[in-house]
Amino acid sequence: MNDHELIRLAREALPFAYAPYSGYRVGAALLTVEGRIFQGVNVENASYGLTICAERAALAAAVAAGYSSFAVLAVASEGESEPLPCGACRQVLREFGSLRVVVAGKKEKILSFTLEDLLPYPFTFEK
Ligand code: THU
Repeated sequence: MNDHELIRLAREALPFAYAPYSGYRVGAALLTVEGRIFQGVNVENASYGLTICAERAALAAAVAAGYSSFAVLAVASEGESEPLPCGACRQVLREFGSLRVVVAGKKEKILSFTLEDLLPYPFTFEK
């Protein structure tokens, strides 16, 4: 599974995004180290702050299926610029270690980052 294929799967999810408020659809495809793929979309809400981002939707689907080691996350939008994960999603993803993040808007261009670069100092919890 290369970056282009994973972005294709993130784009495949875009029509299922529920984004009646912003009109900005986001699709995600999360590749586990075992080679499984989980897709996600943004799910907005009339109470805006309850919106679930595509990245976290994909992550929750994977965890619910018993997967928690991830290799690559692809994120796609229909916008001009590449959709980098928001800060909250970076923190939530970082809970499960690092992974590569690839992002693409409507253009051909794919940008690639490590999650460590996107969030070098995550919050960690010690009792
Ligand atoms: N959104 C995501 O799905 N992922 C992000 O990392 C940032 C933003 C969604 C939330 C909302 O539905 C729309 O994009 C506009 O903020």
